[in-house]
Amino acid sequence: MWERIVLLLCLPSAVVAQLCAPNAPNANKVRLSIKTALGSQAYDWNDDEMFLFQATLAFAMRNHIQGQEFNVSNVIVCNETQRVSFWFVVTSPLDPTRLIGKRDVEQAVRKSRHRLNSAFLLSDATLEFVGVPPTLEGPAQPDTPPWLIVFGVVIGLVSAGIVALLASSVAERRRKKNKVTEEEDEEEEADARGKTLENGSATEGVYNVTFSDEERFTQM
Ligand SMILES: *[C@@H]1O[C@H](CO)[C@@H](O)[C@H](O)[C@H]1NC(C)=O
Ligand SMILES: *[C@@H]1O[C@H](CO)[C@@H](O)[C@H](O)[C@H]1NC(C)=O
Repeated sequence: MWERIVLLLCLPSAVVAQLCAPNAPNANKVRLSIKTALGSQAYDWNDDEMFLFQATLAFAMRNHIQGQEFNVSNVIVCNETQRVSFWFVVTSPLDPTRLIGKRDVEQAVRKSRHRLNSAFLLSDATLEFVGVPPTLEGPAQPDTPPWLIVFGVVIGLVSAGIVALLASSVAERRRKKNKVTEEEDEEEEADARGKTLENGSATEGVYNVTFSDEERFTQM
């Protein structure tokens, strides 16, 4: 009876301990080069630093999976080495025996990469999540298949051609129209002169025309 209770009490921690192991399916490896990064300013890696790592990673997980309250206890670390490297897994806040998938953890790390780096005064090169490229922000961009690039280029050229064609035809039409309206303007002007002469009196706008044409007027 007592043995069973003890076994039941020990079970969760035993299970959790098994969850984190080098090269386990959902485990990630971290490598820190604090001396390389900070030289004489380097700090010692200790339990407090590890707590900060667990906390910032829990923050990154909260940031990535909204609405789940990841805690420091959800970040399980194992196989820590002196020249600092270790493995970690993340358990679900809803069920501590279930692991968060490697993909989600990696995306969370990428999303909060800058925050993780600055927490430890390190860079992408000196705070290394082995196998997680730091440069891709957020969800990984799907690779563009080559046919899509060719298709895009062809479509681009065709539409550029169409635009050029349209633009040139519009310009042509506008030029013709301008010519026509210029001629029309000349005709209208001539008409206006004629009318002024007929009426003998002029509105103010046309007055100048009659004035400048006075010579012709007097000749008539
Ligand atoms: C987080 O974990 C600590 C101890 O590990 C516990 O005291 C605290 O209540 C937990 N917080 C949440 C929101 O679960
Ligand atoms: C990782 O740690 C466990 C438990 O501490 C140990 O049994 C195992 O051999 C270690 N693995 C490596 C690759 O160091």
